[in-house]
Amino acid sequence: MQGVSESSPIAPVVVSRSLRERWCAWRDRQIASRRFQRWAARFPLTRPIAQRRASKLFDLVAGFVYSQTLLACLQLKLFEILAEGPQTTAALAPRLVLGEDACGRLLAAAASLELVERRGDRWGLGPLGAPLVGDIAITAMVEHHAALYADLRDPVALLRGEPGRSALADCWPYAGVESPDALDAGRVGEYSVLMSASQPMVSDEVLDAYPLGRHRCLLDVGGGEGTFLRAVAARAPHLQLMMFDLPAVADRARERLLEAGLSGRAQAHGGSFWSDPLPRGADIATLVRVCFDHDDEGVLRILRRVRQALPEDGTLLLAEPMSETPGAEAMGSAYFGFYLMAMGRGRPRSAERHRALLEASGFERVRLLRNPMPLYTRVLVAQCAPGRRDV
Ligand SMILES: C[S@@+](CC[C@H](N)C(=O)[O-])C[C@H]1O[C@@H](n2cnc3c(N)ncnc32)[C@H](O)[C@@H]1O
Repeated sequence: MQGVSESSPIAPVVVSRSLRERWCAWRDRQIASRRFQRWAARFPLTRPIAQRRASKLFDLVAGFVYSQTLLACLQLKLFEILAEGPQTTAALAPRLVLGEDACGRLLAAAASLELVERRGDRWGLGPLGAPLVGDIAITAMVEHHAALYADLRDPVALLRGEPGRSALADCWPYAGVESPDALDAGRVGEYSVLMSASQPMVSDEVLDAYPLGRHRCLLDVGGGEGTFLRAVAARAPHLQLMMFDLPAVADRARERLLEAGLSGRAQAHGGSFWSDPLPRGADIATLVRVCFDHDDEGVLRILRRVRQALPEDGTLLLAEPMSETPGAEAMGSAYFGFYLMAMGRGRPRSAERHRALLEASGFERVRLLRNPMPLYTRVLVAQCAPGRRDV
């Protein structure tokens, strides 16, 4: 083993790190000083930066008010009403069952958030409100946030793991029970409907990123009500389809697949990936928004089950929102980091962390695919490593 000599490349790295640390410490002191802040806000070259940072910081302080403004708009069906055409405050107030002053206040707030737009003396849809017209996914998600909002009332208690009832854990009962396969229909309906509502945003991304033409049979593990499977069926009419989920969820999927006329082509299997083998016969498996619900040990168990169910030349697609996604860092680390902590299990992972877990459970040649909206999901494709079925 070679020692680290005087001339080893370690030395310059240490120097540059300490230079960087000193620079950061100096910069932090400047930014924290009221005098520097006042100077930066006045000096023409730094003024735009100072204003931008102040505004960003205010958004962090006030973000929950913006979310509640959106909730009020959705509950009052404001976007659907404005989709009929621009209207005055006086015309909108009775339709929203609000006094004219309160209605004006809501519209002004919504306009500042680009949800609605002032058009002379009338109001129309704004660039962020227009996509919400009839959008059941975002509406369901915003309404579901009442539970997250309740759990985040005391974020420090949550971080310290202080005991208390979690509203989110009630929504996702499989996260906290020993035998999730014993959950009955009454416990799985609410989350299954929520997941199904937001599934099209995800399935379009996955299926645009990975054409399924060369495969013959797909197994969707943790496939919910079969909404992803229905999207696959529409894109790849030649594929045989299977899905696996908890028994009460698989029952829901079976009904949906029957309604979609797919019962001849698609089978829904009930069981738990903790205790039951997955059905065999597929040459490609998918795990869509499943791994982030579980700790690393759980993910390794799921991946090994999937590896065992696939042939030696099988393929796995793993899709979910990931941390360290360029341009969407807060979604992964802040939103999902706290969401899953409140739920009581799971964590967001970077693509690199997923790669390490995949390689540890019998997969190789892991690639991150390009997709247009990585905020909704990122997509990894991996091949079975031959001879490593029983790692
Ligand atoms: C976050 S949902 C994702 C559903 C679907 N893949 C989607 O993207 O809409 C996670 C799914 O994993 C299923 N699940 C949780 N624990 C399970 C277990 N032990 N065995 C099988 N499925 C399980 C849940 O019932 C749920 O449908």
